[in-house]
Amino acid sequence: MEPIFELPLTVPPRGDRLRALHRQLRAAILEGRLQPGLKLPPTRAFAATYGVSRNTAVATYDLLLSEGYLATRRGAGTFVTDVLPKLAERKGPRASSGSNDRRLNAFWREQALPGAGTGGPSSSINFAMGVPELSLFPMEVWRRLAARALRAFSRQPLVNDSPHGRATLRAAIAKHVSFARAVACSADDITVTGGSQQAFDLLARILVTPNRTVVAVENPGYPPIRTMLAAAGARIVPVPVDAEGLIVERLPANARVVCVTPSHQFPLGAVMSARRRAALLEFAHTRGAVVIEDDYDAEFRFDDRPLDALQTLDRAESVFYVGTFSKSLFPALRLGFVVAPPWAQRALGVAKRYTDRHSAVVEQDTLAAFINEGHLARYVRKMRAVYGARRRVLLNGLQKDFSAWLTPVPSAAGLHLAALATRGLDVESLVERAEQSGVGIRSLRRFELGRAGKAGVAFGYGTLDEARIKEGLTRLRRLLGPVKILPRGP
Ligand SMILES: Cc1ncc(COP(=O)(O)O)c(C=O)c1O
Repeated sequence: MEPIFELPLTVPPRGDRLRALHRQLRAAILEGRLQPGLKLPPTRAFAATYGVSRNTAVATYDLLLSEGYLATRRGAGTFVTDVLPKLAERKGPRASSGSNDRRLNAFWREQALPGAGTGGPSSSINFAMGVPELSLFPMEVWRRLAARALRAFSRQPLVNDSPHGRATLRAAIAKHVSFARAVACSADDITVTGGSQQAFDLLARILVTPNRTVVAVENPGYPPIRTMLAAAGARIVPVPVDAEGLIVERLPANARVVCVTPSHQFPLGAVMSARRRAALLEFAHTRGAVVIEDDYDAEFRFDDRPLDALQTLDRAESVFYVGTFSKSLFPALRLGFVVAPPWAQRALGVAKRYTDRHSAVVEQDTLAAFINEGHLARYVRKMRAVYGARRRVLLNGLQKDFSAWLTPVPSAAGLHLAALATRGLDVESLVERAEQSGVGIRSLRRFELGRAGKAGVAFGYGTLDEARIKEGLTRLRRLLGPVKILPRGP
């Protein structure tokens, strides 16, 4: 039966039935009760359903057709058109579309949707940050494991799983991070989350007391973690970073949560030195603070001697280690995890339960099999070589052709590289002109709170092969013109 048969239309016993039907159908279209694309029944069926003559039905349809509310497609019938957006355009923005509406929570009212972190959509060569290569992912293996997980689930669907995640996945993650990152943990310490972003949200919920808790963040740093902590009511204090990572001596004494990216400072790329790691743990221990260690892309390390994770070095149960599969696998998976100290695990589980009960079960089981059968380790090994080669091409190109303008920041891991601008380079203008030439690069300024840091750019190389990296650099180089030899200063 066509859905329109269920539309209650009142047909007056006498008088102008055409007008009455027309008015009601038009209102139903404008209010969205009859959706664009919906097929109306043939006029004969319409007439029979509502007890009107065929002529009245045809005349009603004709009127709506002439006004553009309906359209006919040859041989297919009569359909509701997409008239609403056009009407909205004519009337200007709807009164309720303004983001300043006082009915919204004051914090979220002010937030803008972030620029997806992937750069301009028009860039044909987009040095997008934080986006891994998907074309080399063994999707066929994943498809097979996902089908198997779904089959097993359909035989034994569960109603209420642990908020901390599937036991098999927690055990697989514990083994993986113990091996790959020397993180000291067991399955019980792991809570599976919807990417790191949900981990930050949950940690903000359980660690922050609104308007009281002082949270120190790296500056420049990763805006999405700041946002979730600020949303929970934290007082955010930006702390500068240098070549050794977060400058621990600059931490405010009252900081109770410190957020860091020690393996690969985001966005500059520095590795936090052993000295600073020790100092940060000492700070946390003596001040009763906790550390959120965001180890977002540490799988892709390009040096031989990685430094231990803060979680590994911690003796005072003050570190929350956050990991993600967004870089090692792909971000659309939305799976990450927290290794939490024992005293916080119950609260974390309760917060997860009330936020989304638990992460999607079939995806968790698929990932557990992917790790347990060795695919994750194999894939990471393969991609480390791929990303390593891309990184070398990028670094060589920057060092060879851009040394008058950009100085790469030494780093040893990850999917992006930052370079600081030499004096005189207008980074914002370069980014804009690059965009016009189809090259997407990021200004480091977008990761800053205030205007504290140095100007520079970040280049992601996750999704660009070596030829495209070279092409991107060639286009960028053209924008900078000949090297100017500046007279030596006094
Ligand atoms: C610093 C940092 N942390 C975490 C993530 C990962 O976020 P998620 O796991 O929510 O995809 C990213 C992604 O770009 C990042 O740059």
